[in-house]
Amino acid sequence: MELSYVSLLSAFVVAVSLSLHFLFFKNKPTAGAPPGRTGWPVVGESLEFLSTGWKGHPEKFIFDRIARYSSTVFRTHLLGERAAVFCGAAGNKFLFSNENKLVRAWWPASVDKVFPSSSQSSSSQEEAIKMRRMLPNFFKPEALQRYVGLMDHIAQRHFADGWEGEKEVVVFPLTKNYTFWLACRLFVSVEDPNHVDKFAAPFSELASGLISIPVDLPGTPFNKAIKASNFIRKELVAIIKQRKVDLAEGKASPTQDILSHMLLTSDETGKFMHELDIADKILGLLIGGHDTASSACAFVVKYLAELPEIYQGVYKEQMEIANSKKEGELLNWEDIQKMKYSWNVACEVLRLAPPLQGAFREALSDFMYNGFTIPKGWKIYWSANSTHINPDCFPEPKKFDPSRFEGTGPAPYTFVPFGGGPRMCPGKEYARLEILVFMHHLVRRFRWEKIIPHEKIVVNPMPIPAKGLPVRLYPHKA
Ligand code: HEM
Repeated sequence: MELSYVSLLSAFVVAVSLSLHFLFFKNKPTAGAPPGRTGWPVVGESLEFLSTGWKGHPEKFIFDRIARYSSTVFRTHLLGERAAVFCGAAGNKFLFSNENKLVRAWWPASVDKVFPSSSQSSSSQEEAIKMRRMLPNFFKPEALQRYVGLMDHIAQRHFADGWEGEKEVVVFPLTKNYTFWLACRLFVSVEDPNHVDKFAAPFSELASGLISIPVDLPGTPFNKAIKASNFIRKELVAIIKQRKVDLAEGKASPTQDILSHMLLTSDETGKFMHELDIADKILGLLIGGHDTASSACAFVVKYLAELPEIYQGVYKEQMEIANSKKEGELLNWEDIQKMKYSWNVACEVLRLAPPLQGAFREALSDFMYNGFTIPKGWKIYWSANSTHINPDCFPEPKKFDPSRFEGTGPAPYTFVPFGGGPRMCPGKEYARLEILVFMHHLVRRFRWEKIIPHEKIVVNPMPIPAKGLPVRLYPHKA
């Protein structure tokens, strides 16, 4: 019932937009624009773009067009927008070095509706800039060092609750639970599993509705996402109010989590952030932070199951660290620095299964790229796959080979799972820590094998094994 209602509605929206499209845009080629095609009216090539991901090969969209049009840049039409896809290391370099000069970050309009800016005058663009200014203080390596022990503590509880004593587990829901629990603890000091669970369901609704048809009527995924977002913001505001009281009474510490940090940091004019602003920022971090890292952790489990000699290398490194610790002693920053081989393995996982396939920019003015005109307002997409699985950048690109990251590692702008330039992921170091702590606890406890040998991968928008990666666990003998 609900489905047919939604389909009817979508058909209506598409029909109206189609007429508008023909009225205003037509499908005329733009002079000097890169080669390519704009596909169907309104939807453009969005369906091909998304469906190659659903089939587990998002790179196909890019490489088919590189072969047909150009290896550096091609034209397309995505998410209702005229767009150019920049390919290869040169494309990445151009975009990452021209942030706020020729291009700026861009999100689909639906994102603004699900995350309405609490200060109504500012756009998500401005909010993101504010956020970027304050994040490094919390996410820089020196600041994160003090949280390694806490991550270790949460990881131990997670493995005790979800893995130990089980013969078989489904990995993806568990890695989601791990990264979400960590984020709840490190961002807002919510540690009680029941409290964490209260947030988990609305978070899934929010994540799945974020990239959906933006129709705000009862029952649509978009509408559910808005409701979920309002619910979580309300909960976060309650936590924020309580924290203010606790800080004033000395019951909370200024460094216990990112929330305390946000409450106590003023901007350059001496102004502190409004409660709703803080709630929005934390909501953004919880969304941005946990699905990406949980996908990465799940793919670590997948590749280590498939590659026993790689597993052995990680096991050896992690056991040396484990054996150097006293009974009950938590992991610390020095231990993390010793996990060099494990991080090379994680990087190879991020190369082959990047949690984010790429990101959008918007042209701030007309400019030329490789002899083609990119008109002002066009959206530009950079794609991690255009370098990650390109034999010019990574010889034998499908081969899992952590030694690629030894020494000086890959050439600049070729390995970009976290993006690059001023918009590079601010959570990179945090993600490194949580992935390494996860690997430590995983290989210390188990070997495992995949229950579905050739499980399909779905990329929507993050890569996940279609059945969640069920595995059989073999605990190490004590
Ligand atoms: C393996 C895990 C992760 C991957 C692969 C990843 C990747 C990325 C990428 C590719 C971007 C976009 C860069 C661009 O627009 O060019 C990004 C942005 C961002 N990430 Fe991450 N991320 C991860 C984990 C995290 C974590 C743990 C957090 C927070 C704790 C986080 C917070 C953010 C934020 C706030 C942005 C937006 C930055 C801006 O707009 O300036 N990410 N991330």
